Amino acid sequence: MRGGRPLAGEVTIDGAKNAALPLIAATLLAAKGVCRLENVPALRDISTITRLLSGMGAEIEQRENVLEISTAAVSDCQAPYELVKTMRASILVLGPLMARFGEARVSLPGGCAIGARPVNLHIRGLEQMGAEIKVEHGYIIGRAERLKGADISFDLTTVTGTENLMMAAVLAEGTTTLRNAAREPEIVDLAVFLRKMGARIEGEGSHTITIEGVRKLSAAAHRVMPDRIEAGTFMVAAGISRGDVVIRNAPLAALGAVVAKLQEIGLNIEPLAPWSEDEVLSGTPVRIRRRAGGLRGLDVKTMPFPGFPTDMQAQVMVLLALAEGSSVISETVFENRFMHVFELQRMGADIEVEGRTAVVRGVPTLSGAPVMASDLRASAGLVLAGLAAEGETVMSRVYHLDRGYAGFEKKLAALGADIERVKN
Ligand code: EPZ
Repeated sequence: MRGGRPLAGEVTIDGAKNAALPLIAATLLAAKGVCRLENVPALRDISTITRLLSGMGAEIEQRENVLEISTAAVSDCQAPYELVKTMRASILVLGPLMARFGEARVSLPGGCAIGARPVNLHIRGLEQMGAEIKVEHGYIIGRAERLKGADISFDLTTVTGTENLMMAAVLAEGTTTLRNAAREPEIVDLAVFLRKMGARIEGEGSHTITIEGVRKLSAAAHRVMPDRIEAGTFMVAAGISRGDVVIRNAPLAALGAVVAKLQEIGLNIEPLAPWSEDEVLSGTPVRIRRRAGGLRGLDVKTMPFPGFPTDMQAQVMVLLALAEGSSVISETVFENRFMHVFELQRMGADIEVEGRTAVVRGVPTLSGAPVMASDLRASAGLVLAGLAAEGETVMSRVYHLDRGYAGFEKKLAALGADIERVKN
């Protein structure tokens, strides 16, 4: 890509990857019927989890962004290492398999570039629900007659941990309470779908979720919420390129901390239709421009929702690399999520990392360079840097980007960016 072109025009956000993955896993809970999921993003991670379910015996039809899934014929409750190692979120089949079949053999996801990412809280919660869990030869092996409701407190907030145990609880005997549960909008999206299937859930989106187990769930239809991280990424793209972009369906209520932070840095984020803070799942058209005057450096601390999301940390760092003054970015969620820093330094950014803190001193310009993607959101950040940098940037290992953004370079080119995919 070659930087310097202000983005202009309109862009539509795809369905949220981190909502679609648990929704697809949840179809394992329906003993009969066909679940229909709309607005499913065309991403590598989505094909991985659909391959995983087909391997178990699920029947899946995919047409455009619609998935029709029947899991009536599922018999092989396994998630093999070959698939799980390519996508950690495969762990999301553990809860549904234990709930419906009382057995599961799921490969331990293992760490990834951004951290060790243990799943001890998923396992402990299932044990509290009466499951017998063994971890051997790199696999989680679970058995349970029928899971029993339990009062489960998380000592730290875990998004997929909350989702896994919510899905385990919907068919358990009795009531389950999840305390210090994660509050991400994708969890709300999942709860809405489970309720359509016949589940009894209250409190999703708050710190305490109560689930009253039922005997069985039936198939249902659902539309995946818009991807708040893709929307946030395009907001930064508009700002960093001094553009003027309309995002047709930004889930503003799910982006509160991001919008506040970007406005403080110096972006104009203007809703073009009425929206409500309580509607975390719905999209609103919004216009993004850069305010007159420079970008202002300020501190950012990533936190679980509703705080500033860790999945937007790399993107906001790139914006701050071009702001006036210094910014301190604290990454409180993952222990190693600054890999993009070393590549940004090669583009002329002035950033120093101390453990989980990065000090960013703004520079007037970045310069294009050959860079390497290390993980999904780092790769998004590097593309944003390339949009603003002088000269040409070539990013290798673009497959990281494809895990979370469908046709990212095409959408940016349609907004006027000088960007193309040279090879996968
Ligand atoms: C989800 O990952 C997202 N993935 C991540 O998005 C996101 O960055 C993360 O939540 C935080 O918001 C999906 O939803 C598929 P966590 P998850 O469990 O659930 C520790 C992206 O870019 N922890 O909330 O795996 C863990 O190590 C991806 O789209 C335990 O110690 O994250 C981390 O430090 C990246 N034990 C912290 O909690 C556990 O049992 C939060 O992790 C579970 C988690």
